[in-house]
Amino acid sequence: MSEILTNQERPLKLPDRGIKTGARVLNRLPEGAAEKPYTLFGVTPLGPLIGAEITGVDLRNPVSPELKQELNRALLEWKVIFFRDQQITSEQQRAFASLWGELETHPFLPQGDSDEVVRFAKNNKTEGKENSWHSDVSWRLEPALGAVLRLVEVPPAGGDTLWADMGAAYDNLPDEVKERIDGLTAIHDFTHAFGVRLPADELAVKQAEFPAAEHPIVRTHPETGRKTLFVNPNFTSRIVGLEPEEGERLLQYLFRQAHIPEYQVRFHWENHSIAFWDNRATQHYAVNDYYPNRRIAERVAIAGDRPY
Ligand SMILES: [Fe+2]
Repeated sequence: MSEILTNQERPLKLPDRGIKTGARVLNRLPEGAAEKPYTLFGVTPLGPLIGAEITGVDLRNPVSPELKQELNRALLEWKVIFFRDQQITSEQQRAFASLWGELETHPFLPQGDSDEVVRFAKNNKTEGKENSWHSDVSWRLEPALGAVLRLVEVPPAGGDTLWADMGAAYDNLPDEVKERIDGLTAIHDFTHAFGVRLPADELAVKQAEFPAAEHPIVRTHPETGRKTLFVNPNFTSRIVGLEPEEGERLLQYLFRQAHIPEYQVRFHWENHSIAFWDNRATQHYAVNDYYPNRRIAERVAIAGDRPY
């Protein structure tokens, strides 16, 4: 039998659980930017804030400077853009990504055909470990600008990826939190993510090569000028200048902002789908619901600049 409570025992107010219902500030465009039509391709939004599919572009063909410029605008305005049915090679994928800058080599992940292609080949022996919110290589002094990921083999079902708009996450923080984190920095480190698999001597070499990085908690996007929340549970170890317990509590709160569905897009992959994300504006999460089925993807990352 269920317990019957008197009205006095039924509190009107629960403890503050940080729940905020109702409308959120969802500014898709940078402040002051006006909506402008795209002339060289179609854009199909996957939601109002983040993520759009680009249609009418064949990435087997050379990308003209005009097309590159318009794709870059789409990337900045939508933060992650998607292409379908692009039957390109790793080499063409590299060539496309390199239009945005120097390509990055990942020191810990398995390589594909060349040093600059990371091949994620998951099967019944290697499960996907990318199911945690993060921005790629935030432990570098200069974290990646973005990445181009191509699905080579999709699992029979599942294996979606989600991205979260960390500019929107920042915009919706309560004023007192914005004031509190203004000017604060945090330490990002690969050690607790990739370091655990390394023998001690190798770890020491990698740690010397990639010293822990101190980045502002709120970074300014170098192209749009937008403020974005730049801490993630994979790589951010602590906040500089705060007591460990207090810093961890604040970090946990900031990490949870990426979990809010209004800031997210969820993409369902098909073979030859491509996602190109702005790693400065977003975090992502690769859903591991397909194990032990196979999922093969190749990623090329573009070197970025120092967060400020
Ligand atoms: Fe990632």
